[in-house]
Amino acid sequence: MFAVNSFVVLLLVYVANCEDTVLPSYITPCDFKSDKFTECVKEQIEIALPKFTKGIPELGVPSIDPVQLKNIEVLGNGLNLTFSEAAMHGLSHCKLTELKAEFSKAEGTFSLSFKGNLSLTAQYVADGRILILPIKGSGDALVEAQGVEVRIDSKLIHDKDSTGDHFKLATPKYKYTIERTTFDLKNLFNGNKQLADTTLQFANENWQQLMDELSPPAIKQIVRTVVKAINKFFSKVTIDQMIKGYGDE
Ligand SMILES: *[C@@H]1O[C@H](CO)[C@@H](O)[C@H](O)[C@H]1NC(C)=O
Ligand SMILES: *[C@@H]1O[C@H](CO)[C@@H](O)[C@H](O)[C@H]1NC(C)=O
Repeated sequence: MFAVNSFVVLLLVYVANCEDTVLPSYITPCDFKSDKFTECVKEQIEIALPKFTKGIPELGVPSIDPVQLKNIEVLGNGLNLTFSEAAMHGLSHCKLTELKAEFSKAEGTFSLSFKGNLSLTAQYVADGRILILPIKGSGDALVEAQGVEVRIDSKLIHDKDSTGDHFKLATPKYKYTIERTTFDLKNLFNGNKQLADTTLQFANENWQQLMDELSPPAIKQIVRTVVKAINKFFSKVTIDQMIKGYGDE
């Protein structure tokens, strides 16, 4: 085991390397034997993350900004609220806040935290009450969540195929916090501005209650998508290609 913090970058370095034989100018390769290896890798990941989130078509890694979400439905408690055609934007602008990897032949661990502002665009249908105020309408929705921090803790296992050993994230768990959310729902009350403004203001003052219901299904889908993209990446590159000397450990 080495006290490292991650190899996604190494991977990107490798991929870029074998594509062009020249590294893209934004990536500097890290020396595994160096004392500064950990810092170097973290730095490289920070640089590479925005590119990774936009997808790597050559490897079949899809873009995860935006992430298309399945319908989000809150039904009951006096309020029916549905978001369809939902897309989450902003992952490529998120900052890495923590990264830890422990490698082991049997089973390592991988933790990743990122933070940023995420926005959801969707078509909404709302009918019922938010706490005390009625809400009714359908149309374009924009939900902006600020200071969203997501932490993913996963097992890091080995997965063998005909090309060799690969890393794989398994049984990921996650936690998240959100600092603030604003809702903009167009066409509430058939465009009655006075009613709409009152309800929206109230919704925004009580954003936490609404998000208690809305964010779990959304964050779950985001985490699933991120893990899937990382695993797609891992499945295309062997550990030996990513980390020199790993097999000797
Ligand atoms: C998130 O949005 C807030 C408020 O608009 C802004 O102050 C902050 O800089 C943004 N953060 C990021 C990481 O873009
Ligand atoms: C919410 O939907 C359920 C089931 O579709 C329905 O029975 C109920 O009346 C709806 N409530 C409101 C407030 O629209």
